[in-house]
Amino acid sequence: MSSILIQNIKTLWQTDSGNRKIVKGRAMSAIPCINNAWLLIENNRISGFGAMGTGAERANIMIDATGKMVLPAWCDSHTHLVFAAKREEEFEMRIKGKSYEEIANAGGGILNSVKKLQEMPEDELFDKAFFRLNELIEKGTGAIEIKSGYGLNVNAELKMLRVIRKLKEHSKILIKATFLGAHAIPVEYINNRENYIRLITEEMLPKIGAEGLADYCDVFCEKGYFTNNETDIILQAAARFNLKPKIHVNQFSSSGGVQTGIKNNALTVDHLELLDDTEINCLLNSNTLPVALPSCSFFINIPYTPGRKIIDAGLPLVLASDYNPGSSPSGNMAFVIALACVKMNLTPEEAINAATINGAAAMELENEVGTIAIGKKASIIITKKINSLAEIPYSFGSDLIERVMVSGEW
Ligand code: NIG
Ligand code: FE
Repeated sequence: MSSILIQNIKTLWQTDSGNRKIVKGRAMSAIPCINNAWLLIENNRISGFGAMGTGAERANIMIDATGKMVLPAWCDSHTHLVFAAKREEEFEMRIKGKSYEEIANAGGGILNSVKKLQEMPEDELFDKAFFRLNELIEKGTGAIEIKSGYGLNVNAELKMLRVIRKLKEHSKILIKATFLGAHAIPVEYINNRENYIRLITEEMLPKIGAEGLADYCDVFCEKGYFTNNETDIILQAAARFNLKPKIHVNQFSSSGGVQTGIKNNALTVDHLELLDDTEINCLLNSNTLPVALPSCSFFINIPYTPGRKIIDAGLPLVLASDYNPGSSPSGNMAFVIALACVKMNLTPEEAINAATINGAAAMELENEVGTIAIGKKASIIITKKINSLAEIPYSFGSDLIERVMVSGEW
């Protein structure tokens, strides 16, 4: 049996008896921890932890973590990691004054990525995505959700989902797959959008359901993309294949998408750059989790999700990267945490809770990752020598992560 004992950990964060599934409101400001701790890993899972001097003393591999902290690896519940090419030309257009919406309306944006993805062979797409996935693991991500949505026809959407399935087979990281066929209306359907909705509900979803290619269904519910009513139709069809909603809402406009998500038992509603009191109240009366994506706000210069207000209302908040070539070409969760502190007024503890335990809940992986609990996957971050947890977001841009273990493997 392989065993690894990490000793003399300055602080072991997010310790848990296994009962904590999510943190909300005021409770988000605290993270349980043990100072001067040890952590034992056996057969790729956490098998014990405690204060030095109590419990485990020997293992096959001994690691000294004097001055360093250990925390659960980041849980990134919203990414578009599979894509064919970067879009830095749009970045330059925005610097020169065009908005994200103007670029999209001129045929750029999502449709730009769609054309390139449709042309790219599955193997090449996989190689690119696999490279990015490993980059993210190095930055501390230990569980991730990945969406389709740059295919927008039956073959290309299935191709994307198969790439995600292959990533699952080739990596130790836990992956959830989300079908986002309703990411944009493809050019060929601009004048008969009902037919595209029908393609999603009558062709794509049954095929995806039959092959078991997705865990969730997403819709970009937004002015210029999919209406509230279309979102409702797609989510109801997805429910027939047991795909729970995780949807994009209230990024640029608000038209009842939050309520539509809740009505369809959405696991999460993501973006929420616009969010009013009525919508916050609806969330309070639901099990749907609000997800903020601050690196998207940063990169395309739009308002930040009112994370402070969400937490003060007593809700749980989730942070994710939204890694994609258009609105967030970075999946660095340490930067997401820094932005949440600086731009959304979260404390470092709140932001780290949002990116670990709550991120795990946003992928229904709360029994596997997100906290340091016996029996969970050994997916952890060892920091460099640091003085406090706050130093992680404080030192934004410098990498304070020394080593990352994903499901027991460095
Ligand atoms: O979450 N808003 C919709 N989808 C992505 C952006 C996709 C793109 O620009 O390629 C997002 O921001
Ligand atoms: Fe997104």
